[in-house]
This record gives sequence, structure tokens and C-alpha cells, in this order.
Amino acid sequence: MTETTPGDDVFDSVGNDIFDSVEDVVTRFTEHGYLADQRLATTVFLQSRLDKPVLLEGPAGVGKTQLAKSLAEVTGRPLLRLQCYEGQDESTALYEWDYGKQLLYTQLLREKIGQIVGDASSIEESVDRISAEDSVFFSERFLAPRPLLDAVRSDVPVVLLIDEVDRADEALEAVLLELLAEYQVSVPELGTYRAKHLPYVVLTSNNTRDLSAALKRRCLHLSLDYPDAERELDIIRSKQTGLPDALARTLVEVVRGLRDLDLRKAPSISETIDWARTLAVLGATELTAELLAQTANVVVKYDRDLRRTLEVLPKLVDPNATVPDSRERHSHGHGHSHSHPHDDHTHDDHSHDDDPAPSASDPAGIEKRASKDEPGRHDAPNYGIAAGQRPQVKRSQGERSFNTRGARRRPV
Ligand SMILES: Nc1ncnc2c1ncn2[C@@H]1O[C@H](COP(=O)(O)OP(=O)(O)OP(=O)(O)O)[C@@H](O)[C@H]1O
Ligand SMILES: [Mg+2]
Repeated sequence: MTETTPGDDVFDSVGNDIFDSVEDVVTRFTEHGYLADQRLATTVFLQSRLDKPVLLEGPAGVGKTQLAKSLAEVTGRPLLRLQCYEGQDESTALYEWDYGKQLLYTQLLREKIGQIVGDASSIEESVDRISAEDSVFFSERFLAPRPLLDAVRSDVPVVLLIDEVDRADEALEAVLLELLAEYQVSVPELGTYRAKHLPYVVLTSNNTRDLSAALKRRCLHLSLDYPDAERELDIIRSKQTGLPDALARTLVEVVRGLRDLDLRKAPSISETIDWARTLAVLGATELTAELLAQTANVVVKYDRDLRRTLEVLPKLVDPNATVPDSRERHSHGHGHSHSHPHDDHTHDDHSHDDDPAPSASDPAGIEKRASKDEPGRHDAPNYGIAAGQRPQVKRSQGERSFNTRGARRRPV
């Protein structure tokens, strides 16, 4: 293989898109709608100074992908994105040969190829003559670059987002190592491409598996988590959701309470934003447990999580609310709503002591069920709040996290 350097050998540091200071990062990102905390801003600042990729790990919806998008906006660089998935190989990450085009050319050149091998005395000689020409078919003309090679060959500096790298197999991680360490990509038939301009590389991971030490070592590593209440409120404000500020405060507080629960999927920043927008569209002027319960499906995506959420919402909105225990709420004789979800059929927290049991005279239990079917029972709220006793949001609520930062509270 020839060790060529198709790109310019000199690494440019592009002066106008590096950051002056950590504060400069914070300010410029804020101008573009991304509120970076000090740790994140420091990491981005160091990236621009140390020419190292950044690896962001953390739960879904905490702004990992958005950071790369905002970095591109802030620096005016084009964004190239490699979305990783299981079973992905280098042909979708680095490059592949454009087989269709190669085939088309061989068809069109059939006559010429015939001339080349026409007077060959043996098959071996024909093959030798054709292989003498094959470099034509493995030239840049037939190269189909994918995002990693694109980033290296780009004539302008870019931001390269390698998103959800933990979804890809370890083999792809190995492919990334050369790029991350040397900012170069080797194509055996052509040589090594080195970046003319160092890309800002951002890798994200949702921690579904451990990434290799080799990959981590090459990156500035940062674990992102949910923001504190004040920052989350700032984010909601910056998204101009239309929800009045006092309600947004309470909402942030409620979402933080939900994150304290053992939910299968905790609500993320993006879900808080969605919830705020939903409530604004519905014209909410106060946050009642009932209104939150009606819209909780915006943020809670599993039935088991929804049940748990509906149980604790009254308490989250008003810590003084009395919430009947789940036995009471799930017993069929006390206003159980049949719209209540039962996805996993694990009724360990439900009481079915008074379930209509079939008897000899009423084997299907029809009469017994009918006797319980009082008018209006389907209207009764199933959120643990009796009608007329719905807790109202108090002015002082929502200030718990804001006043006592870091003091997380278990709602139940
Ligand atoms: N610091 C922040 N400033 C402003 N908006 C933010 C911030 N963090 C998150 N967001 C908002 O949350 C949304 C979701 O963020 P993003 O898609 O980047 O999450 P993610 O961490 O990549 O999640 P996933 O792992 O599911 O891909 C963004 O579109 C943005 O609106
Ligand atoms: Mg993402």
C-alpha cells in the first residue's frame, strides 16, 4: 500500500471558531439556545484547545446530541453525523466502493476490455492484463465516502457527531480509534487521508454497554446528568413554551419528584419541555394533580410507570395531600376506573379481595358486577383525589428544589 496523504499535511487550527474562555463557551451556547453548565462548558473549551474528541455519556434526553448540533451552530461549522446501530460495519461509517458504478463502467467499457485481453494467449495472461488496470476501478472516482471519511476529507472544518456509539459493536469502535487518535482514515487502495482541518468530534453514549478503554482514553469524557432545578427551569424558559413561569417552576419540581421514583424510564429534559408545551397549549392557569394526570402520558411512556406516576402526583403537587394507599384505590368497590392500565399483569400492588367472584347461580359473575355498577362510577377520578378535594397549586410550591438545591426529596 502506498502511504499517501491526499489531504494537506498541515493541520490547521481554525482561529475564528475556537473559544476564548469557558465563559465564552457559556455565552455563545446560550445565544444559540443551549444552556451549558460549567463542567460542560469547560469540556467544550478544552476540546477546542486540546484538539480532543468529547465523549458524552448519560441518560436519554439530557442534551448530548443537542450539544453537537449547537456546537456546529455556534462555530458555523457544518455538522456531519454518524448514527450508530447494532451490526453496523465500516462500509456505512468510513467508506465503500461504489459497486454499481464500477459495474456500469465495466459494461460500458466492455469493448475496450475486450481489446486489452483480445490477443492474450492464456486465461492467466488475461487476468494479469485486467488486474494491471484495476487501480482505475479503485480510485477516488469510485469511492463512496461515509461520514468519518467525509469529515477528514472536508475542505472546511466540520463538527462530527458520532451518535449513540454504544449501540454499535465493538468492532466499529476499533474502526474509530484511528480517526480519534490521529484524525486520519486509511483506505488501503488509496493511502491515508489526514484531516486538513481538525474536526470537532462529539461522541454520545446512553451507557447501554461499557465502551472500550482505548476509546475512552482518546476522548475528553463527560457524564451528563439531569440538570439542577434552576437550570432546568432556565432551559424551559429559553424554549418559550408559553407556560407561565410559576407553573413551569412547579412542573420542574414535579418532574424532579418523578425522577426520584424507580421508573423504567425517567422523564428527561426534553420531556419536561414537551409537558410544558402541552400544558401551555391546554391553556393551563394552575397545575392541578388532575391536569397533570391527564397529560402525564406526555412524559411517562410505560404503563407501569404511569400507574406509579398517577399514584404520587397529588403528593408531588401538594406535599400535604392525603393519598389513599394503593389497596384502597385499586379495590373495585371504591370507584376503580376500568381505563386504568394493566400492561404487565403483575397485580402485586393491587387488592382484588372484593373482585366479583363467580358463584354457582351466577357463574359468569354478571349479576354481581351489575350490582356494583352504580351510575357515575366510571367518572370517579382514579388518581387518589376525591372530586372537590383536588389540591390546588400554592404559591410557595415548587420552591423546594429552588431554595434547597441538591436536597432531593422522596415524595412517598
Ligand atoms: N442544556 C440544554 N439547553 C437547552 N436545551 C436542552 C439542554 N439539554 C437538553 N435540551 C433539550 O432537550 C432535547 C433533547 O436533547 P437531546 O436530543 O440532545 O438528548 P440526548 O441526550 O441526545 O438524548 P438521547 O440519548 O435520547 O438521544 C433537546 O432537543 C433540547 O431541546
Ligand atoms: Mg441523542
